[in-house]
Amino acid sequence: MSRARLGILISGRGSNMAALVAAAADPAYPADAALVLANRDDAAGLQHAAARGVPTAVVASKPFGKDREAFERALDARLRQSSVDLVCLAGFMRLLTPWFVGQWRDRLINIHPSILPAFKGLDTHARALADGVRWHGCTVHYVRAEMDAGPIIAQAVVPVHPDDTEQQLADRVLAAEHRIYPMAVRLVAEGRAPVIGERVALHPSVSVQETTLTNPQEA
Ligand code: GAR
Repeated sequence: MSRARLGILISGRGSNMAALVAAAADPAYPADAALVLANRDDAAGLQHAAARGVPTAVVASKPFGKDREAFERALDARLRQSSVDLVCLAGFMRLLTPWFVGQWRDRLINIHPSILPAFKGLDTHARALADGVRWHGCTVHYVRAEMDAGPIIAQAVVPVHPDDTEQQLADRVLAAEHRIYPMAVRLVAEGRAPVIGERVALHPSVSVQETTLTNPQEA
C-alpha cells in the first residue's frame, strides 16, 4: 500500500510537526511528510523540517489581509502541487473558511490542546487551571467549519496538579500531543478511522491504546 502524503501546516515552533516528521522517518509508518507549509516565513519549524530533508514552503497569509479565502486558494494550490493526501494542522493559527474545509473534508485533521469539546479556542491551559479541572489533555479531530469541532480520532488526558503553573501544564499536555498525533495520523492513513455519520467509526482492529493515552506516567 502506498504511503499517504502528509501536508503539515504550521505557524510557529512546529513541535507537533517535528513529531510527525520523526514518525514518518520510519519506513514502516504509513505516511510520508510530503510538505511542511507555514503561513509566515519566520515560523521556526521550517528550519527543523528542512534540516530533516522535508520539502518546505511558505504561503504568507499577511499579504491577503482579510481575504481569507484568497489566502486559502493559494494554500490549496500549493498543497495540490505536492500531491498531498492528508492535511495536518500543527499549531496553524488561522481559522479556516468553509470553502477550504470543504475542499479537504475528512482529509484535514487538527490537534487541539484540550479534551474537546471542553476549552475550545485559545489559552486552554490557563482556562483549565482557572476552572480547577483535575484532568486536561489534547484531542486530534477531523476539521469542520466550526472552530475546534469535528469527529474525534484520538484523545490523551494528563493530570492537573494543584500547584501547576500554566507552563508546567502546557508542557505536560504537549508531551502527550507529540505521542497522540502520530498515533492518530497512522489510523487515518491506514483507513482505520473513517467518518460515518459525523463520528469516527474505528475499525474493529483498533485497540484502545491506539486512540487514547491515559497513563500520566507515560505522558
Ligand atoms: C500546540 O499545543 C497545539 O495543540 C496548539 O498550538 C500548539 C502548537 O505548538 N494548537 C492550537 O491551539 C490550535 N487551536 P507546536 O507549534 O510546537 O506544535
